[in-house]
Amino acid sequence: MKVLIIGSGGREHAICWAFSKSKKVNKIYCANGNAGISQVAECVNIKPDEIDKLAEFAQKEKIDLTFVGGETSLALGIVDEFENQGLKIIGVSQKTAQLESSKAFAKNFMARHQIPTAKYKVANSTAEAESYLNDFGENVVIKADGLAAGKGVVVCQTQTEAVSAINELEAIVGADAISQIVLEERLIGKEVSLLLFSDGKNFAQMPPVRDHKRIGEGDSGANTGGMGTFSDDGLLSKEQLQKITTEIIKPTLEGCETEGFPLRGILFLGLMMTETGAKVLEYNIRFGDPETQSILVRLETDLLDICEAILNQTLDKLELNWKKGSSACVVLASKNYPGKPQTGDKISGLENIKEAIVFHAGTNKNEAGDFLTSGGRVLGITATGENLEQALNTAYEAVNKISWDGMQYRRDIGKTI
Ligand code: AMP
Ligand code: GLY
Repeated sequence: MKVLIIGSGGREHAICWAFSKSKKVNKIYCANGNAGISQVAECVNIKPDEIDKLAEFAQKEKIDLTFVGGETSLALGIVDEFENQGLKIIGVSQKTAQLESSKAFAKNFMARHQIPTAKYKVANSTAEAESYLNDFGENVVIKADGLAAGKGVVVCQTQTEAVSAINELEAIVGADAISQIVLEERLIGKEVSLLLFSDGKNFAQMPPVRDHKRIGEGDSGANTGGMGTFSDDGLLSKEQLQKITTEIIKPTLEGCETEGFPLRGILFLGLMMTETGAKVLEYNIRFGDPETQSILVRLETDLLDICEAILNQTLDKLELNWKKGSSACVVLASKNYPGKPQTGDKISGLENIKEAIVFHAGTNKNEAGDFLTSGGRVLGITATGENLEQALNTAYEAVNKISWDGMQYRRDIGKTI
């Protein structure tokens, strides 16, 4: 079979890598890919927002299955377009994508279905948002409604901070993303991400995972796309998982179905484990980056079989197997990231890595065949282990062999379980 993966980051490298292990897949394309991805897939120069061109390519190459990496293509309706053209694709429809592309839509949906989440209000202007501040006290979270690549959320500790956040939001994320502003009660607890495959009716959970969003050790400094992740079954107990299933997963999937937009694809729950139980911080409707790297290295079932079960609505008949133990992914980033990154630096040491898997996020190659940095997040060094300590030791052993000018990473991934 021929598969096409849409995207160009570490997440998409991990997805291509998982498909490369499938006995049923004999050709992988990635649009638009990166230098690391080109080791397992043929990269095609079409961007994730060029939906018509992607469909044309899939028709011309007779692609059997397309897998969408990121939210941009989903929010633009890639799945609706491909399905209209009779092309098989894994991802949610444009309507379902609103669970991620509009935070107001997601919060109103959760309210309609009594899904545990932070108390909230939606404002249609900055003045209206300010007028709601008294309802929340000192601890309020201000969120831009639209897609903002992780930059649209400000967790505040005083009302003065909240007023500044409301007024600065437009400059940070652009006018489109703040046509509505969501104000939320600040929740306290540990964060866990739980992802699942869904065929619209049945679902299959992936192992729980935690990411580290800040650039600095001890969760300090600016927010990033994610500096590392780990997966460990101990992140959630059986009882917690059961409660999340009945209080969050089932009502979410049933709510999508009864409202006419069944969720077929991936659901990513950002959860806060509060004193009164798990509450939804956010819905994403796709794999996370770098959560995917830590998840897919543990997947023993053929990813293609999972995709076929999603398309045939037979996920309930497929048992998913995950490698026991833990996994970890340490992100190596360029100098100045998450500001404007320095790029074009030669990466050394990759040939010495045997113990871990190197997923490329932002690399290209020069004429001599050397890998060069080409983005903020550059590599995700990913390893499994019988326990978290082993997975982390192996990942960091590999990290120590890699270098380039200005390379930065966190040494405390997985230390905050
Ligand atoms: P979101 O994109 O909505 O998940 O927000 C990004 C990050 O902001 C989350 O991963 C949390 O760390 C934090 N955050 C969002 N909402 C809340 C909340 N209601 N209470 C506390 N922290 C939050
Ligand atoms: N790492 C967070 C995300 O992919 O949304």
